[in-house]
Amino acid sequence: MTPPTGTTHLDTTNPVAVALVPAAGRGERLGFGVPKALVPVRGTALLTHAVRGLLTAGCVRHVVVAAPPNEVESTADLLRSAGLAADVVPGGTDRTESVRLALRHATKVIPDISVVLVHDAARAFTPAEVIRSVVAAVAAGAPAVIPVLPMADTVKQVDFTGTVLATPDRAALRVVQTPQGFDVDTLTRAYAEAGDSATDDAGLVEKIGVPVATVPGHAYAMKITTPFDLAIAESVLSTGARP
Ligand code: CTP
Ligand code: MG
Repeated sequence: MTPPTGTTHLDTTNPVAVALVPAAGRGERLGFGVPKALVPVRGTALLTHAVRGLLTAGCVRHVVVAAPPNEVESTADLLRSAGLAADVVPGGTDRTESVRLALRHATKVIPDISVVLVHDAARAFTPAEVIRSVVAAVAAGAPAVIPVLPMADTVKQVDFTGTVLATPDRAALRVVQTPQGFDVDTLTRAYAEAGDSATDDAGLVEKIGVPVATVPGHAYAMKITTPFDLAIAESVLSTGARP
């Protein structure tokens, strides 16, 4: 069916999904003295696990990685030697800037993108089913989609002294993961119009008044931030329990 002239058409059967992978952070909380994306889990860099996961999910056509500016060549070599096709661009001083630079590159070199995923290198073990359900939800018409999990812990709002101000209703709260998926026009507009820093890309989309839908996330899409998280990832992989 031919879409009406002037509307964005997403092919729901074969969307062109491009994944942007911000990987330019320093990994200070992990404390390895190298960028977190290059830290190995069972002998393979987190970034390699992350990019392989995207490319084997079956719905991502192209990957653009934002690497630390002084590690662009070594990152490209790392991925090439793992047999993974990805463009590597220099990242920025914060995550938002890294995504902005990767998005600019992606829209320049791949003009027919319909779905853009933004996926942290630090969430290296995200199951394919999560990646596929985010892409499918955008392809089905949602302008922005994020994977989420219910909160296991009670959450408190505190003031600057640490004194509790309120207890939000846990049932209405969600923990947010990546990949976050967007139609390309929505993400481009969010970065143009709500261009300050945000801890996630959906936060910028919310600021321009576009609704953000949710799909189920997965425990294995956890962000590796601390040595404890790394130990969990190592042990999950060693049991062969990865879906
Ligand atoms: N990131 C990025 N560019 C930056 C900062 C972060 O691309 N200037 C990326 C990280 O590489 C990571 C993701 O954003 O994949 C989430 O960031 P975080 O978990 O905070 O990673 P780091 O910034 O590397 O860790 P830390 O804050 O402990 O230094
Ligand atoms: Mg950081």
